[in-house]
Amino acid sequence: MADKNQNQYHPAEVNGYHRSDRESLEDVEEARRKKKMKWTIGIIAFVIFQVVQGLFFVLVIMKFKSPKFRVTEFEFTNSTFGTQASPSFALAFVAPIRVKNTNWGPFKYGASNVTFTYQGTQVGRVDIPKGKANFKSTKKINLNATLTAANLPNTVSTTLGNALQNSQVITLNSQGELKGKVTVMFMFKKTKISKMNCTMAIDTGKKELQSVRCS
Ligand SMILES: *[C@@H]1O[C@H](CO)[C@@H](O)[C@H](O)[C@H]1NC(C)=O
Ligand SMILES: *[C@@H]1O[C@H](CO)[C@@H](O)[C@H](O)[C@H]1NC(C)=O
Ligand SMILES: *[C@@H]1O[C@H](CO)[C@@H](O)[C@H](O)[C@H]1NC(C)=O
Ligand SMILES: *[C@@H]1O[C@H](CO)[C@@H](O)[C@H](O)[C@H]1NC(C)=O
Repeated sequence: MADKNQNQYHPAEVNGYHRSDRESLEDVEEARRKKKMKWTIGIIAFVIFQVVQGLFFVLVIMKFKSPKFRVTEFEFTNSTFGTQASPSFALAFVAPIRVKNTNWGPFKYGASNVTFTYQGTQVGRVDIPKGKANFKSTKKINLNATLTAANLPNTVSTTLGNALQNSQVITLNSQGELKGKVTVMFMFKKTKISKMNCTMAIDTGKKELQSVRCS
């Protein structure tokens, strides 16, 4: 009787037991797999994020670039030109000097100067005080400049005389060098030198600047 009773509902109970046991085991395994998947995806996402961040840091932020140092367009406040027989010029203007800093940090530079030349002969100079071009910005330095060509070497004098007579265009150059440090994230520093090399064409007939090109 006892046996029969046991036989009667043991299988059911066993079956029931087995079923729920297997189901719950499957559920647990499924949940574990999902959790593992989530972790894996999370870790991969984190690694990708770190790599992207690192690449951005190295390729963009830590890319130290030389600031651009140049003269932009200006107008003369005074200009006089000589003749072929007595070649000379005297020019006065406010020189718009620009230091364009594209770095992700400021560029601090020491005192320097820009020299203006005609056919290799210096005709003027402006002195640049030490300063700073901020993070991703252009520092504007406006300096009074006076350029005078007098007592030129003979060949240069002849060239100037011919230019004044014929083309009525004279070409001046400006050169300079700024030496300074770029600081990124307040601690990464690198010395950078930016060189100016500009060519200015001046129309001596109209007494105005025709163009400025910097390389
Ligand atoms: C312009 O320059 C000439 C020659 O350098 C000078 O004699 C004259 O006084 C200047 N004019 C002005 C308004 O500065
Ligand atoms: C002009 O600046 C350079 C550095 O860029 C310096 O070596 C030179 O002595 C300066 N010249 C004058 C006359 O200040
Ligand atoms: C530049 O020249 C102007 C007059 O043309 C004068 O008012 C100004 O003070 C000068 N600036 C410097 C820095 O010498
Ligand atoms: C300045 O630029 C001109 C071309 O615009 C070039 O011929 C000359 O060699 C350059 N000078 C320096 C010192 O780089």
